[in-house]
Amino acid sequence: MPQTLSVIKADVGGYVGHSAMHPEVLGVGQEALVRAVQSGLLIDGHAASCGDDLFLIMSHERGENDEPIHKLAWDTFVAGTDVAKRLRLYGAGQDLLVDAFSGNIRGAGPGSAELELEERPSEPVVVYLGDKTSAGSFNLPLYKMFADPFNTAGLVIAEALHAGFAFEVHDVKEHRKIVLNTPEEAYDLLVFIGSPARYAIKRVVARATGEVAAVSSTDKLSLIAGRYVGKDDPAAIVRCQGVFPAVGEVLEPFTTAWTVEGFMRGSHYGPWMPTAQAQATPSRFDGPPRVVALGFQLAEGKLVGPRDMFDDPGFDNARAEANRVADYLRKHGPFEPHRLPLDEMEYTTMPAVAAKLGDRWAEI
Ligand code: 13P
Ligand code: 13P
Ligand code: MG
Ligand code: MG
Repeated sequence: MPQTLSVIKADVGGYVGHSAMHPEVLGVGQEALVRAVQSGLLIDGHAASCGDDLFLIMSHERGENDEPIHKLAWDTFVAGTDVAKRLRLYGAGQDLLVDAFSGNIRGAGPGSAELELEERPSEPVVVYLGDKTSAGSFNLPLYKMFADPFNTAGLVIAEALHAGFAFEVHDVKEHRKIVLNTPEEAYDLLVFIGSPARYAIKRVVARATGEVAAVSSTDKLSLIAGRYVGKDDPAAIVRCQGVFPAVGEVLEPFTTAWTVEGFMRGSHYGPWMPTAQAQATPSRFDGPPRVVALGFQLAEGKLVGPRDMFDDPGFDNARAEANRVADYLRKHGPFEPHRLPLDEMEYTTMPAVAAKLGDRWAEI
């Protein structure tokens, strides 16, 4: 029986501001998953936070897009919202964009990444949790893990990886998808995924076996809502070892603090800082954006873990780099390229200011 790993996440209220999650809200998530294991719906579950987002990591045998699993996540987010409202947390229910659940979490606000697998004798997986950034931010790290031989030695020296990987890319604005094979179509792939605001890697498949190697959440809150409510704060699941990159190769891209969109008001570029879970509390200018890596060994679907993979001095330089980049970008204040270009800004006073000053513009 194939297993499914589902990571479904939402911001249901921040403590304080957008900086972190209140322990009671996290407790609601944990308790809901424990009950779902007891009832037999889940094999196992783990609730975690990154910044103000609640990530439900669930292992089960029901496949992707399963209604009871998605309903479990939705009901848990609603229960978390109730706690957030009672504690007057900031943005209670922020990512729940519809009044009632209607069969699938997609299009309702929360982000989801789901992956089916036949468990190997040893099955290491890394679940990434992002905050203060957008769907698409995993493009660069996923490319490096699965297509860059300077990152992943196994692409060159391990026979099982030599066949390369297939990338399923979603055009989040036009709702279409394409599959491109690396290494031979790497340049074509990069044309698209180099613009992560529009093209996001949804899935990576090992060409040697056809197994899914990685998935990420590509749900765009602002496109669903038609306005800014918060950032997408995406999740990703990556399988490791064997026909996949080793755990260390999967973590290696995060030794650089890549520039991603998000940060204050979702409207700035900032460095993506890899941190231990305890440091995933973006406070300076509501950032810098964070990424947490939770490692698990699967044991017949049980989530043995998590190990907090960025809780390692090996990532100290990336954190220092993130702080240097944040200092430098912050000095630009309201100027690009710290502030996003106008058409990518999550919110702007431009229409109101332009209307107010409309009759003061003169021909040159
Ligand atoms: P695998 O051959 O199991 O992928 O392990 C390689 C390794 O240990 C490098 O980290
Ligand atoms: P979140 O998406 O994490 O809620 O952040 C929103 C924001 O506007 C931060 O300044
Ligand atoms: Mg928030
Ligand atoms: Mg958030």
